Amino acid sequence: DARDRAGLAQVVFNPELAAEAHHVARELRNEYVIQVTGTVQRRPAGTENPRLPSGDIEVSATHLEILNPAETPPFYINEEVEVDEGLRLKYRYLDLRRPAMQQRMIMRHKAVKYIRDFLDLEGFLEIETPILFKSTPEGARDYLVPSRVHPGKFYALPQSPQQLKQLLMVAGYEKYFQIARCFRDEDQRADRQPEFTQLDVEMSWIDEDDIMALAERLYTGLIRQLRPDARLDSPFPRLTYQEAMLKYGSDKPDLRFGLEIANVTDVLAATEFEVAKSAIRDGGIVRGLAAPGCGGYSRRQIDDLGELAKSYGARGLITIALGAPGEAPASLDELTMEHVRSNVARFFTIQQVQELARRTGTKPGDLLLMVAGAEAVVANVLGSLRSALGERLGLADPNYFALAFVVDFPMFERNEDEDRWEPMHHMFTSPMPADLHLLETDPGNVRARAYDLVCNGYELGGGSIRIHRRELQQQIMRLINLSPEVQQERFGHMLEAFTYGAPPHGGIATGIDRVAMLLAGAPNIREVIAFPKNQSAQDVMTDAPSEVEAKQLGELHVRVVPAPSAHG
Ligand code: AMO
Repeated sequence: DARDRAGLAQVVFNPELAAEAHHVARELRNEYVIQVTGTVQRRPAGTENPRLPSGDIEVSATHLEILNPAETPPFYINEEVEVDEGLRLKYRYLDLRRPAMQQRMIMRHKAVKYIRDFLDLEGFLEIETPILFKSTPEGARDYLVPSRVHPGKFYALPQSPQQLKQLLMVAGYEKYFQIARCFRDEDQRADRQPEFTQLDVEMSWIDEDDIMALAERLYTGLIRQLRPDARLDSPFPRLTYQEAMLKYGSDKPDLRFGLEIANVTDVLAATEFEVAKSAIRDGGIVRGLAAPGCGGYSRRQIDDLGELAKSYGARGLITIALGAPGEAPASLDELTMEHVRSNVARFFTIQQVQELARRTGTKPGDLLLMVAGAEAVVANVLGSLRSALGERLGLADPNYFALAFVVDFPMFERNEDEDRWEPMHHMFTSPMPADLHLLETDPGNVRARAYDLVCNGYELGGGSIRIHRRELQQQIMRLINLSPEVQQERFGHMLEAFTYGAPPHGGIATGIDRVAMLLAGAPNIREVIAFPKNQSAQDVMTDAPSEVEAKQLGELHVRVVPAPSAHG
């Protein structure tokens, strides 16, 4: 089998037709680089391979030259086998030869090409912005680059082109986009990399609906084009942040399945269940969720769910099993305490169990899960359990792109450690005009003109209508505790630009790696990045980051202080 980027072709060496080539062919091993001359011909009847696009033909070789022999690769290239990711990343150039990886790179290329063509037709200009820049606060740590010519000074790699795209609006470019590299020093996850790619968009003279409509046109078209087999709902539903947190326990809910979370605080408050009642007295709440078809779960399976809930921060998990699927009665009305198995059964009447079941959509044969505690904790625990159940019970159709917009985000969130407000999106996001009067008195209840695009449990993108007036920008900066000196020193260029006729503007950025991951059906974004970093932000192929020569450090006026520990 000879392989190139286009696929495989079978080459035959017939000793009677080409004795020399046949002789050389005996040297061939996997991954040898060869040059073959010969005739393309039909395969003899009965030897066709219908599973290969080239399965009807073969090349009858007259000449063979070995251009470069190859070591035996550390893993199979032509067969799909499970390979340790560390090994794949170390030999990424071999891993990328595998057909599955090739397909992902092709998919990603097509996606980016579609995006560029689409935005060009919509009148957008692609404009590059610098990588050596100044700190751009998007909530992560910066990667810093020391300056040689300016001792003691640093560039920061952009966490996003946020400020520059706004300055392009001030400059009158009206419709901008960029396939932009961004850099963030933050904890790694399956959908995060220290350097990643955004589709960054900004427009003038628009409102929220214009940006969301644009993103919807773009992503509907893109998915229809590249995944014609997939299910996609249009228009994308919109839900408020409040609703998302309440019903799904997440601001990026997986909407491929229902399993909505319901409030049952009042039902629990009326029982004899002291643990829940004391949580409620302390200002907490109780919410619950049905695990469909799990009424027959064993003690062990239920304990596992309890452990999972604790790992997300719950004190405990309240479980009520409404009978094993085959044994439970047909309707809730016929349910008796005999059918019910629960760690807290003794505190409930059958009427209360039925009421809890009705609220949460739990049916006979299902398992009801409830968590009591502080609202944010309960939302997070149930949201995480919901995702885990969706996965385990196979409720999430992998062929379904359930896109939605989450809107009405709070403007600020409280940083309890530092005792101050932080912007939930970023500090350039405009508050809703209707909430401006709350800025000084009740910042926690100010809503932002921000929106997220979510898909299947991932945040694909986020954006907002921006502040374009200096006074409001300064007011927000003050509110998040930036002193006038810091405002001037770090963001003076933005504040000044707003005084030279800045048009109203807004935009959105979507993660290209995440889009490519979903399009490719890949389990994490490393699978759609040619040369990703591993979970510890290392490139194991080249061994970066690595030490540099003392001379380099000297030129940069940098001295290394030994870390207290390897990860210090
Ligand atoms: P935000 O910080 O929400 O917004 O980022 C936008 C999108 O970028 C992707 N993303 C990432 N992808 C991979 N690895 C990461 N570490 C990572 N961090 C973010 C996500 C995310 O939704 N300047 C604003 C956008 C705007 O307001 O226009 C911004 O960067 O898909």
